[in-house]
Amino acid sequence: MHSHQIRSTFFAFFRELDHLLIPPGSLIPDDEGMLLTGAGMVQFKPYFLGERVPPSSRLMSTQPCVRTVDIDNIGRTTRHATSFEMLGSFAFGSYFKPEAMEWALRLLTDGYRLERDRLWVTVFHDDAETYDLWRRLAVPTNRIQKLGLEDNFWSMGVPGPAGPNTEIFYDRGERFGPAGGPAVNKERYLELWNLVFMQVIRGSSDVDIVGELPTPCVDTGLGVDRLAMVLQGVDHVLDTDGARRLLPDLPDGPSLRIVTDHVRTALLLLRNGVRPGNEGRGHVLRRLLRRTIRHLRLLGVDGPILGELTGDPVVAQEEAQFGRTLQRGSRLLDKEMRRHGRVPGDVAFKLHDAHGFPIDLTIEIANETGVPVDLDGFHSLMTHHRQTSRHPHPSGRPTAWA
Ligand code: ALA
Repeated sequence: MHSHQIRSTFFAFFRELDHLLIPPGSLIPDDEGMLLTGAGMVQFKPYFLGERVPPSSRLMSTQPCVRTVDIDNIGRTTRHATSFEMLGSFAFGSYFKPEAMEWALRLLTDGYRLERDRLWVTVFHDDAETYDLWRRLAVPTNRIQKLGLEDNFWSMGVPGPAGPNTEIFYDRGERFGPAGGPAVNKERYLELWNLVFMQVIRGSSDVDIVGELPTPCVDTGLGVDRLAMVLQGVDHVLDTDGARRLLPDLPDGPSLRIVTDHVRTALLLLRNGVRPGNEGRGHVLRRLLRRTIRHLRLLGVDGPILGELTGDPVVAQEEAQFGRTLQRGSRLLDKEMRRHGRVPGDVAFKLHDAHGFPIDLTIEIANETGVPVDLDGFHSLMTHHRQTSRHPHPSGRPTAWA
């Protein structure tokens, strides 16, 4: 099934159930505290909090999302990507757990024709009601697993709506690792759909609950690319029909996956007006571009190529500048790693401060080489540097490492 059929099947199903289709929200959220849109519910946050009235008590959408929390997993697992599309159904007081769960199960099995026996679910360990509802929907108890806050509690923003969630997984079979369900193996058991039962308002953390929502709400997110992996019988999230194959002549492997993923997300950010910078969204974009350049070099692509791939002169400039930094910094880092068998704090600091070689890159390269980085030393030099640059030396002499 093509991605466009995945979308149309979802919308036809929920349209029958009176859900109103809302266009995707911007990737740049209308919310000071949020960097990038990472879920379908982001544009609906004021509806959950009761700050605004939704156009209907049942909505649906498909939302391009960017999430970089798993950036280190890109290329290592088959299921992570820094950008993806999320189909969602939402209810603001008009229905709750029983309907959301029954419909999700029905759409997966009748609509997308997934084998029921391959579906597993996880529930929040305290949420006996959801556990019982799955049982009543004939999900065998050995395929219902209970997990804690980290896996089965979901929230967005500070303050923001929050509540327990239940996730539906698809068993891809033993080719993807040992049995035991999603509690032990999330690569074999692929998370497809997350159903969140929003009920409370969280403060600074998921255990800091500061109030109740005016009405219990449902927020669901079904990963288009993940479902496409299953329905198109491909092993990797970057191999579905939604992903453009970049640079087909280069050898397949983690570096090419990282390049493909990061260029895709960088293009999304550029299209939304983000420019490379040192903070916030600009920093996310810069980090993606820099990692791309490094992995292109690892693949043996030495000349400029990103400007052409993205059609963006700003990216071309970034590549030219960082290409030089990368070359000089990598040489120095290699030499110091060989000499010390680790990366001393002052070396990491010098790379950062004098060579513009970012600390996350130093950490990444050191990890790949299997040597430790003295991060405490690095951070204390950074702190000292910040203090001294705010209060320059009275004689005007530069500090030792400036
Ligand atoms: N908001 C939920 C998620 O992003 C559905 O997983």
